[in-house]
Amino acid sequence: MSKAKITVVGAGNVGASTAHIAASKGLADVVLLDIVKGLPEGKALDMAQAKGVYAACGNVVGTTDWDQTANSDIVIITSGLPRKPGMSRDDLLAKNAGIVKSVTEQIVRTSPNSFIIVVCNPLDVMTYVASKISGFDKNRVVGMAGALDSARFACFIAEDLGVDIGDIQGVLMGGHGDSMVPLPRFTSVAGIPLPELMPQDRIDVHVERARKGGIEIVNLMGTSAYYAPAAGAIKMAESILNDTKTVMSCCAWCQDEYNIDGAFVGVPVMLGSDGVEKIITLDLNEFEKSQLDTSVKHVKELVSLVETMI
Ligand code: NAI
Ligand code: 2OP
Repeated sequence: MSKAKITVVGAGNVGASTAHIAASKGLADVVLLDIVKGLPEGKALDMAQAKGVYAACGNVVGTTDWDQTANSDIVIITSGLPRKPGMSRDDLLAKNAGIVKSVTEQIVRTSPNSFIIVVCNPLDVMTYVASKISGFDKNRVVGMAGALDSARFACFIAEDLGVDIGDIQGVLMGGHGDSMVPLPRFTSVAGIPLPELMPQDRIDVHVERARKGGIEIVNLMGTSAYYAPAAGAIKMAESILNDTKTVMSCCAWCQDEYNIDGAFVGVPVMLGSDGVEKIITLDLNEFEKSQLDTSVKHVKELVSLVETMI
């Protein structure tokens, strides 16, 4: 059986980490593409040499030539500017919209049957751009943020309770920004609802820290996170390639669900070999609904803005 093929666009911090995880798991053969000559080739060579140390698995090829990405099963778009201290994800809109547009045009030309996983920010809007430019069925275009944001939420809860992070299932919805909606009522520790284990004031602290989790790291190291984002993108790719039907929060096209009426936004989905196979609709209370409405409204405002740019 031939190995699956993943193209990672952007050989920067997130892209290189993503390629390295995919290759070290043996998930697929990986093509790492960038516009900076030498960068993807050098990082791919380094990863190939790492294989000699830990005896893995998938091949990694670095290139600036889109033709080498042909017939990829999945293309992960990480090409785009990251934030610097003082910037919001939204400040990246104009620059990254142009990059995602041109990259998506190449994906349509070289891998017309692929699934697209978008990582660059502002995430929900860039996922919309990739969807619009590709014209792919909506189940084949999905954004990575929920996997990261719920892992952050889980990390803070695990530290506080002193429990295994693997026992925590965190649920978040909404746009990948300050208005994201962590849902403590649907978050559990080994099946026990979080509110049974932690008072509301401590939950509130972790909700706020999850919302600001991105900028916390930017402020520490001057650029945005990459190990956990890369792990999130690969978890999604794995679910699609191995048809695991994993349920996780992803940025997916919502029409009738949650009265969203047409937007890419974070919701719990089931991911399998058809991409986004199902959106899970939770019975939100009035407070949760109003938070989600605010977040969706913000995403839609940015989408209106990006429409003038692409
Ligand atoms: P980076 O600056 O380290 O890497 C970006 C790479 O993209 C650079 O190597 C650059 O040369 C390349 N690039 C630019 N234009 C390109 C094009 N047209 N074709 C191919 N490659 C191109 O940035 P980093 O840290 O890897 O972040 C990438 C993006 O991911 C940023 O927009 C960042 O905000 C976003 N991000 C999103 C997360 C999420 O949860 N969705 C989490 C972390 C980062
Ligand atoms: C993050 O949340 C910057 O979106 C990126 O780390």
